[in-house]
Parts: sequence; structure tokens; C-alpha cells
Amino acid sequence: MNNPNASGSRIVGWGSDLPEKVLTNQDLADGGLDTSDEWIFERTGIRQRHVGGKTGEMSTNAGRKALEVAGVTGADIDLVIVATSTPDQLMPGTSATVHSELGIRGGACDMQAVCSGFSYALIAANGLIQTGLDRVLVIGADSLSPYVEWDNRSSAILFGDGAGAVVLERHSEETLLSFDLGADGDSRHIGFTDHGGKITMDGKEVFRTAVRAVTKSAQQAIDGAGLTAADIDWFVPHQANVRIIEAIASRVGIPMERAIVTIQDTANNSAATIPVALDTAVRDDRVQPGDTLLLGGFGFGMTWASAVMKWDPRD
Ligand code: UT7
Repeated sequence: MNNPNASGSRIVGWGSDLPEKVLTNQDLADGGLDTSDEWIFERTGIRQRHVGGKTGEMSTNAGRKALEVAGVTGADIDLVIVATSTPDQLMPGTSATVHSELGIRGGACDMQAVCSGFSYALIAANGLIQTGLDRVLVIGADSLSPYVEWDNRSSAILFGDGAGAVVLERHSEETLLSFDLGADGDSRHIGFTDHGGKITMDGKEVFRTAVRAVTKSAQQAIDGAGLTAADIDWFVPHQANVRIIEAIASRVGIPMERAIVTIQDTANNSAATIPVALDTAVRDDRVQPGDTLLLGGFGFGMTWASAVMKWDPRD
């Protein structure tokens, strides 16, 4: 507990990691899956996915990059949270790996809200900073490839592996202007993975629920910040299907030119999609200091979370 008078937080470091091995749509079709690059791209926006990553290793790599950008080391971190639903072991948490590899001084825990995990963790980290922590390393990471039923064309095409990370630091002003989070546990049967099992889902129902939930949640977060859709410079959505992103963006009133879309390269790597998209858009100079961002995602559970943030990194 360092500063009980802390008033807010901001992101000062970012990074991501994707496994080297790439599986293209064509590779899936060539491997015998009854599908085509055209079908997958048209219906999902996906061209390829990265596979073969271990959650702890990808988390560590993304976290290391985020620390470097922030100009801090593990010794400066009060807490690392790894949002994942694919930990390398049932116990301990994957955060223990990151804690060891990056020499984190403070605590370590995992958070499980499936694809919404990163947003949940970011919101939680902000609250912890408001109550006294100085700096939290927030990581979203998933290795979904071991849980994909590779001969099921309805789901095999959608998923991949990856990790993204941010360093959230105490700041005199609050950059998390507003957030909304929620869940509908009654919908937990529409997407799940049993112990020892593979990803199972009712794709159409997930699609419908996601559009409905994220639209409402995003709208509430924008309203909560006292803003309108026109004030959002960049929508940084969960990357599950570009048609889901388009449906949400049009309902909320954000043109697709202001949505960050990385799904073509990564497919859906669950808790990693939002921090990977953010890292991509900061590195290619789309996101600029002073911009207002809307982070919005959903995951099995169903869970959802939206956050409106000012992008205000350190100089
Ligand atoms: O983070 C949450 C994770 N999950 C999701 O986000 C899933 C959300 N849902 C989706 O993204 C979409 O529902 C899917 C991509 C899973 C499916 O797209 P769709 O447009 O809803 O297709 P559909 O299930 O209605 O299938 C249309 C047709 C069917 O053929 P028939 O019955 O019309 O003859 C399917 O058998 O397309 C067929 N089909 C495919 N064809 C070629 C389904 N998957 C494929 C495929 N390649 N990979």
C-alpha cells in the first residue's frame, strides 16, 4: 500500500506476443477441413491464426515488452494479474510463472472471465490502484489451440493463441472515465470447455448474445463517461468475428474506420485480443495521446465488459 490518496491510473506500457507458428485458412482446408479461405474470411474476417503458444511463456514475453515500454522492472510492480481461461497448470496460476520470470516484487493472481478477462482485470487493477497500489501489470493471455476440435469446421476456424499486456500506473488524473461489466450465468451452456474437453459452443447463439450484450454495455459505458459515440476515437473490441464487431459498431454509432480490427492475423485468442489490438494500434500510430478509447468485449459465461479510457501515456 503506497499511496492512499491516489486518484486514478493510466496505461504507461504495452506489449504483445504471438507464437511464431501460423496456420492459414488455406492450411486448414488443405489439411482436410471441409471449408475454404473465402468462406472463413467472408463469415469471420479471419485469414490466419497463431498456434503453439504456452500461456505462461506468451504472458511473460508480452509482460516484458510492456515493462520495457513503461521503463520499469518487475521490482516496480505491486501486482501481476493474468487474465486467462487456459492456464498452463490447474494450479498454481499462470501469474506465478510471470512473477518468477519477470522478477515481480508484489503479488500475483489469475482472473477467469474467458474472453472478457482482460477488461475485467484492467477494471479491477484500476480499483486496486485507487485504493493504494502504485503499479499493476495486467495481462490477457490464452492458448486455445489445445482445446480446439480441429476437425469441426464450425469452431476450428475461429481460435488461436496469444498474449497482450499493459502496465497500469497511479496517476493524478483518472483515465478510466467509465466502465460497465456484467454477466449472464444462465447462458453458460452456450459456450464451454469441460475438464479434458474441447471448446463447445452454439455459435449463432453466442453471436446474438454478444451483439446484444456488448451494444448495451458499450452504450452504458459511453453514457457513464458523459460522452456520445462521436467522442470515441477508437473502438478496441474483442476479436471473435468481424461481423460481430460491425454489428456492435453500427448499433453504437461508431464507423468501422474507427474500429481496430486485428482478427485477420490473430483469429480469436480470447483474453489476449483486446490488449493485442491495443498494442497494434498504438505501435502503428493510430492511437494518439488524448484519444478516447472504447474497449469492449464478451466471453463465454456469458460475460461482458466495456471501458471508456483517455489515452494518456507518459512522455
Ligand atoms: O469469444 C466467443 C467465441 N465464439 C464466437 O464468437 C462465435 C460466434 N459465432 C460466429 O462467429 C458464427 O456463428 C460462426 C462463424 C461460428 C458461424 O457463422 P454463421 O454465419 O453463423 O454460419 P452458420 O452456422 O449459419 O452456417 C451457415 C452454413 C451451414 O451450412 P448449411 O446448413 O447452410 O448448408 C454450415 O454448415 O455454413 C456452413 N459452415 C461452413 N462452411 C464452410 C459452417 N462452418 C463452415 C466453415 N466452412 N468453416
